[in-house]
Amino acid sequence: MTAVERDDRLLGRTATAPSATSPAAVTEDPRWWRRAVIYEIYVRSFADANGDGTGDIAGVRSRLPYLRDLGIDAVWFTPWYASPLADGGYDVADYRAIDPAFGTLAEAEALIAEARALGIRTIVDVVPNHVSSQHPWFLAALRAPAGSPERSRFWFHPGRDEHGEAMPTDWVSNFGGATWTRTVDAAGRPGEWYLHLFAEDQPDLNWNHPDVRREFEDILRFWFDRGAAGIRIDSAALLVKDASLPEVPDKPGPGDHPSVDRDEIHDIYRGWRAVADTYADPKALVGEVWLADVDRFVRYLRPDELHTAFNFDFLAQPWSAAALRLSIDQARAAHAPVDAPATWLLSNHDVTRPVTRYGRGDSSFRFAAKRRGTPTDLDLGRRRARAAALLTASLPGSLYIYQGDELGLDEVENLPPERLQDPMVVRSGGVDPGRDGCRVPLPWSGSAPPFGFSPQDRHADPWLPQPSSWSALTVEAQRADDTSMLALYRRALAIRRTDPDLAGEAFTWLPSGPDVLAFRRGHRFVSITNFSAGEVRGPEGAELLLASHELRDGHLPADSTGWWRLYDPPGDGP
Ligand code: NOJ
Repeated sequence: MTAVERDDRLLGRTATAPSATSPAAVTEDPRWWRRAVIYEIYVRSFADANGDGTGDIAGVRSRLPYLRDLGIDAVWFTPWYASPLADGGYDVADYRAIDPAFGTLAEAEALIAEARALGIRTIVDVVPNHVSSQHPWFLAALRAPAGSPERSRFWFHPGRDEHGEAMPTDWVSNFGGATWTRTVDAAGRPGEWYLHLFAEDQPDLNWNHPDVRREFEDILRFWFDRGAAGIRIDSAALLVKDASLPEVPDKPGPGDHPSVDRDEIHDIYRGWRAVADTYADPKALVGEVWLADVDRFVRYLRPDELHTAFNFDFLAQPWSAAALRLSIDQARAAHAPVDAPATWLLSNHDVTRPVTRYGRGDSSFRFAAKRRGTPTDLDLGRRRARAAALLTASLPGSLYIYQGDELGLDEVENLPPERLQDPMVVRSGGVDPGRDGCRVPLPWSGSAPPFGFSPQDRHADPWLPQPSSWSALTVEAQRADDTSMLALYRRALAIRRTDPDLAGEAFTWLPSGPDVLAFRRGHRFVSITNFSAGEVRGPEGAELLLASHELRDGHLPADSTGWWRLYDPPGDGP
């Protein structure tokens, strides 16, 4: 076989890799969460079965074969509960009901069971830091007087000046602006203020209150009893506040911030773990923990707390061998003592799509740095996103894929301003472009919007408009192209699922130049990512399994990743 023929095969032009799924292999693993591939579904934008322009549970059910063929182990649904959708569903009015826009509880139960029959577990999103301002508890609190039991489930507080006009603290909301909103009674008289670390439609709960603790443990049971295999915990480090309401220090030390990562929070998660551990079917708790301090981060992963947490440090790194290597090393070193698996992710519904981010001069991610009109080379970004997909899929630990990244979708940056929904846009006075650009409905088929997102013959406009350029990125188009991003993901996940060296957790860096990440997994699996502008030679005595870009005479081109299997494992293999 010539080098070119071999490379063609490895890019997926002929089928040699094992086929996608083997459900039984997944369902039997009691510690499935340690190495699962988890696909994030933003329900509103996945697939719309009833033609109203909003994705729904029926749409997801109709696309389960797609998820099975992709080769994932679990799906994580962003909130699908009854909600005014002031923050895309992260403002929950009823944690035990499905929003009518998405379907019914019976449909959710059917979906969980159908997915499980295909070997796919379901993780649901629980939002414990805050509720919707339409939640019955908050409505009751607004009706009740200051100092009432109803108000004690939240953070109601008088203003700090004589007339009650100055808000209790100057804390800044995660969405920009103030964290306090003043109440007004039925007669129009201003009263107490209430705390919201996000939008004013999302009042923070008081986790010192026993009702709050009881309620959420019950919500966990509610979804576990319906077959959910895991819970993604929203804003997991924010629940506990310093009740003395101090201002945020300039440089808060560990545990010193009045509303982030307070030591008392761990007691809550010990309670949640105890609930999860009562089930024979293994349940996983996954924390959304944004913390710069990795040692504080892994405290959430001690054996009696959460099972895993999103590794945002890795996600935020620029396309740089040195930066990613450091992040990988720090994550692995910090996770080892608590025996928790690291997680790897390139994006989610809150951050800029990798294809866009990696096509920029500064390819790191920071919320504060998001600006409209940043010059972007999408071809370069897509090339790097392919390489990054293989890099992350071969690291030990669990892997998250945000819907649409497997299609190489770019961030949609020219949405009409009047269609934007993200509260971050409004609360930043339009400075922040918001997160709508990564939430645009998926393109499934056809050559014009709605690209099969809604039934082609009868549909309202998708809730966010899709760019016409996505005609080349539909699932249908990519299925027919062995060199597509979708083909790459499918082959990568199939290898990840079946390669014995990737089943274990062994990982060893291999010697390489500064612009290269090269490592061995187990005895024979080798991954090499080339961040340099030149070519890098593949390993000797090895069979190429897959590459994000065609090799030239055994050399990996710039911004690409290759996977190999060594013919003879080195004697010192782990
Ligand atoms: C994190 C979620 O991922 C994000 O979408 C949401 O806006 C905030 N938490 C508030 O719930």
